[in-house]
Amino acid sequence: MASVCFLVTAFSLTVHLSSGYHDHLYRRSDDTNPLSDVVAQQAADIQTNQAKIATLEHKLAAMEAQIHQTPYLFTAHTGTTATYNTGQPILFHHIMYNLGSMYDSLTGTITIPRDGVYLVSIRPDPNGPQNLTVQIRVNGTPKFYAYDEHGGPTGVSAALNLKAGDRITAESDDNGTEVESGTLISVVLIRPY
Ligand SMILES: *[C@@H]1O[C@H](CO)[C@@H](O)[C@H](O)[C@H]1NC(C)=O
Ligand SMILES: *[C@@H]1O[C@H](CO)[C@@H](O)[C@H](O)[C@H]1NC(C)=O
Repeated sequence: MASVCFLVTAFSLTVHLSSGYHDHLYRRSDDTNPLSDVVAQQAADIQTNQAKIATLEHKLAAMEAQIHQTPYLFTAHTGTTATYNTGQPILFHHIMYNLGSMYDSLTGTITIPRDGVYLVSIRPDPNGPQNLTVQIRVNGTPKFYAYDEHGGPTGVSAALNLKAGDRITAESDDNGTEVESGTLISVVLIRPY
């Protein structure tokens, strides 16, 4: 019984000593205060994180705006038969899409609305036995050709790296060429900068 009493006394003495030690640690507030340092650091962290969140929200809003903006897409076919000489842009009368108002129906010119990678496709439709070669030109310079040697429909697509303001036209490379109503063109922005 006496030894148990001694143990209990020794235990309470230990507890008292150790809590006194911690009191001493936290009460040294005269020169340094670890607790307020921690609070100040956390406040600084919160400010840093709030600034990061604001930046991310801004970037996310810009990405959402880009995703939801009107796509740039022009698809049309000639719709009528007409005769062309070299240097005369083929006119597309039957317009399926002109999203982003890229096409001028008076001049047959597609004006690129913004910098990016565009997919440009052309399908020439020749008159009967005639051969038809259509050039896709950018600012007057031929970029690629599609041939149809009265063997049925042919189409060619090419991805082009284009700048805002570039002008695309489709032209026959011969004079007096009859272009039939099924000649089709498509220009779509696939990757803006
Ligand atoms: C069309 O092209 C083919 C192959 O080059 C040629 O043999 C044929 O004579 C051409 N047709 C016409 C009407 O020019
Ligand atoms: C088409 O006619 C124009 C004007 O007469 C001429 O300059 C051009 O060389 C001709 N093109 C072809 C392929 O014959």
